[in-house]
Amino acid sequence: MVDEHALLLPDGSPAPEVALEEMNQVHAEELARVRQLLQVLEDNRPAQEQARAWLEHTRFHFDNEKGLMAEAGFPPLPIHVAEHDQIWLQMEQQVGDYCQHQQGSKLAGWIRQVWVPWFVQHVNSMDRVTAQFVQQQRVQRK
Ligand SMILES: [Fe+2]
Repeated sequence: MVDEHALLLPDGSPAPEVALEEMNQVHAEELARVRQLLQVLEDNRPAQEQARAWLEHTRFHFDNEKGLMAEAGFPPLPIHVAEHDQIWLQMEQQVGDYCQHQQGSKLAGWIRQVWVPWFVQHVNSMDRVTAQFVQQQRVQRK
């Protein structure tokens, strides 16, 4: 079983944290699904179920952040959403390709080489600023 509360990248190093606990929690769940998927792929077992669970969680993750931004009136919302849309298209394509051809090492390689660096970069920029903004709005509204 993978720990759904640990903010850990697939290589075991800590993932970046942001100022909003609920965002960190969703990120921990996202990373748990990625670690689980990689485990199955790298064991050469069928991973369609884990791959679909990952996509499903990512949809929830991105929609949740969009909701937080809309609620707080975060002006760069479209820029943040555009970054999500761009990686989402690639994720759908990679998972779709895997489901068709079952090339586990190809999907695992893409996750490690493209998705993980994307995630770290995205959390350190867009998510960090979003979390700070949402947090400040909440404090001001109290
Ligand atoms: Fe984000």
